[in-house]
Amino acid sequence: MGTPFQRGQWTGKLGFILAGAGSAIGLGNIWKFPYMIGVSGGGAFVFIYLLAILLLGLPIIMSEFLIGKSTQKNPVGAFKILSPNKPFWLVGAFGVICACIIMSFYSVVAGWSLHFIYEAVLGFSGGDGEIQGIFGKLYENGLANCFWHTVFMLFCVGIVVGGIKDGLEKYNKILMPALFLILILLMIYSLMTEGAMRALSFLFKPDFSKITPQVVLDALGQAFFTLSLGVGTMITYGSYLKKETQIPSCSFTIVGLDTVIAIMAGIVIFPIVFTFDIEPSSGPGLIFSSLPVLFSKIPFGYFFSIAFFVLLFFAALTSAVSLLEVPVAYLIDEWKISRRKATIGVGLAIYLLGIACSFDNFGIFGMSFFEIFDKAATNVIMPLGGLMITIFAGYFISQKVKEEYFPDSWKPLLLKVYDVLIKTITPILILIVLIAKIYELF
Ligand code: PHE
Repeated sequence: MGTPFQRGQWTGKLGFILAGAGSAIGLGNIWKFPYMIGVSGGGAFVFIYLLAILLLGLPIIMSEFLIGKSTQKNPVGAFKILSPNKPFWLVGAFGVICACIIMSFYSVVAGWSLHFIYEAVLGFSGGDGEIQGIFGKLYENGLANCFWHTVFMLFCVGIVVGGIKDGLEKYNKILMPALFLILILLMIYSLMTEGAMRALSFLFKPDFSKITPQVVLDALGQAFFTLSLGVGTMITYGSYLKKETQIPSCSFTIVGLDTVIAIMAGIVIFPIVFTFDIEPSSGPGLIFSSLPVLFSKIPFGYFFSIAFFVLLFFAALTSAVSLLEVPVAYLIDEWKISRRKATIGVGLAIYLLGIACSFDNFGIFGMSFFEIFDKAATNVIMPLGGLMITIFAGYFISQKVKEEYFPDSWKPLLLKVYDVLIKTITPILILIVLIAKIYELF
């Protein structure tokens, strides 16, 4: 780790891709994506989501890496360097705060995966209804949520204290490939169930009449959430890049892996949902009530269930540490606080926020804090952060800096497409969606 204030670095391209993919691939892909598809009416949502990944996600992730790599700083410091006398550092500060808010409810959901490891070890037995009910019981039990949230936060703090190479990178290298493998096996099982055909047409045959401003906003928010955009995570991860690592190829790989895993998760979940008559729009509990039913029926289901929830926990962990790293990098760079103190201090603050999210009956305006944080983060904060980042990358980063980060072979074409996107199409699309939503509200 070096001296407390020396900045760490990824060991190389592979380490960076796995860490970036580790941040992107998480509960967003396996927990949130399927339930959002269910709530938002299937294929239409998937279609808009894929468009959003291509037209908004890719250019923004490249912009974040560019901002991080070219400055080697946390989100606040990065904006200060690139645009010294303008208030753009506020975009970074906004990100630092939002990362803490997202982490607080994220940790509660990750805690559910821990509880389900415990249930899986005991074995899912009994009738389908009984197994489906396990999640409901947990959801209402604030103290249990609090307990698992505590355990999860301890893991995160432990890893982030370890720093870049010995903490973040080491774990990502093992956990990501394992997750991929188990998803493939589960997909094969799922596709053999009798609801498979109905599931595939639900997922991939869009019914365009279902597209409303809300569905578009949800798909957009999901694209931001799943790629960890708009809150400075990818700026921070980009800041640990070595000079020779290329941004465009890494970005394509990370976005590609994230999208493949999300679609695979959809293909695992929906055949079960249709086979066992689970309500597709049942919300945040969807994977927790559907998958255990599958596990209780398939050969070696006992082992699969443990492996699956362990990997879900790992996927959540590699994303959560990237959230925690944002405020920690800020405190280390800007306030010269040691990594250990910064991690423990921020961890504690997030932990307290997370306790508020653990109780489903605790909140304001008739919504729980969990719902408020989740909705505000995904549908408002992340698109706004992304909008500001694209405008910044489009109009305030010099062409010379950009050119330096594109590989020679593809430079003219890639740079042109990237420029057109971040200067016009990407910010305009985000704006239209936000305005349509505000219009709908009134
Ligand atoms: N991308 C993560 C996921 O899909 C969540 C996340 C959001 C992580 C924002 C970091 C920053 O689960």
